[in-house]
Amino acid sequence: MDHFTYKDGLLSAEDVNLADLADQIGTPFYCYSRATLERHFRAFDDALAGLDHTICYAVKANGNVAVIKTLAQLGAGADVVSGGELMRALKAGVPPSKIVFSGVGKTQTEMAQALDAGIYQVNVESEPELVALSEVAAGKGVTAHVAIRINPDVDAKTHAKITTGRAENKFGIDWDRAPEVYARARDLPGIDAGGIAVHIGSQLLDLEPYRRAYERLRDVALGLRAQGHDIRRLDLGGGLGIPYNDEQAPPPAEYGAMVKDIVGPLGCHVTVEPGRLIAGNAGVLVTRVLYAKDGSTRRFVIVDAAMNDLLRPALYDAYHAIVPVTEPAADAERHPVDVVGPICETGDTFAVQRHLPAVKPGDLLAIRSAGAYGAVMASTYNGRPLVPEVLVSGGDHAVVRRRVEAEEFMAFDALPPWLMD
Ligand code: LLP
Repeated sequence: MDHFTYKDGLLSAEDVNLADLADQIGTPFYCYSRATLERHFRAFDDALAGLDHTICYAVKANGNVAVIKTLAQLGAGADVVSGGELMRALKAGVPPSKIVFSGVGKTQTEMAQALDAGIYQVNVESEPELVALSEVAAGKGVTAHVAIRINPDVDAKTHAKITTGRAENKFGIDWDRAPEVYARARDLPGIDAGGIAVHIGSQLLDLEPYRRAYERLRDVALGLRAQGHDIRRLDLGGGLGIPYNDEQAPPPAEYGAMVKDIVGPLGCHVTVEPGRLIAGNAGVLVTRVLYAKDGSTRRFVIVDAAMNDLLRPALYDAYHAIVPVTEPAADAERHPVDVVGPICETGDTFAVQRHLPAVKPGDLLAIRSAGAYGAVMASTYNGRPLVPEVLVSGGDHAVVRRRVEAEEFMAFDALPPWLMD
């Protein structure tokens, strides 16, 4: 459920109509709804009620400081994967005691940043990384609180590019090597490995893979405890899927009940790292139709947004619903069109043979479910401006990242001496 609905014939984010916003801001732009972000956070938090837990919002899904701060005010922590994301979380006011640092290739500089900030936990994914963290922590005379990410070898049944829990994926240590790795961790200076982490992939629509991964996690925890390790923290990762089209996503309450059932009895503090679930359906990308062009086999609707603004369709063949900002008549005829951007490659396609009501140049379209992995994956490819972001709250709105124009980022280029006139 989100807060993007037609009001007086115009698609609105809460009480702000997107046509007015487009006139003020220009297109394309992302628009997020505060009420939707809050609703999704609360639904997930409620689902885990009764369990000692922290929701560490996965900043990679939407790292806008205003978005993070909206969630932090509700009590969210943050899951970060780089020094840059750590800075964003801190700037948004997330307490360091609620920040976990994930990722398969943290540099020692990033480890130092994390330790200096005093974050809750570093999720370590390999023995070399453990040794590197030990060096940094011991050098500073501090203890790094560590969860070791195990790879449970479970198929999450999602897109191959976002599945992470199979033995052939680069993530975590093989689950059956946990005793060896925790024994090694115990001997390393500056390391307190009191946690276990798992994350099997993103956009999961089935709870069964979670069940298998969490049962494995529980068994590993029990085994480690039997060997004398003080396991008191579990990180269950993120990945819960959302409806982009007509998929049935598992209700957070069912996920929560499963979590409580499997890991509740361990009595650990539990962190979870949802990103898409919170931000995905809390954002749209608003774009204007530039041209409609009839090819010999199909009609192309050419819009002013492109794959540099929203990469998911080009990268994962992802489906995003597309709706006109002006509400079509209930009986409006729909015809198949390809919705494409202006970039010089065929992959710059948002929808193929999508049945849309007739649109003409100047009309506005909203590409839905674009709040997660949208603006964060945007680039300036083809010399295009960096897309702006707007946050709506009730009848108010604010530009939370302005458009970055081509001449501004061109200023980062520098000529070598031999090309100077
Ligand atoms: N925790 C870890 C360790 C992760 O790697 C991820 C996502 C998350 C949490 C958050 O997952 P979520 O709840 O958002 O599914 N760009 C892709 C998604 C990449 C996800 C990477 N890891 C897409 O647009 O579908």
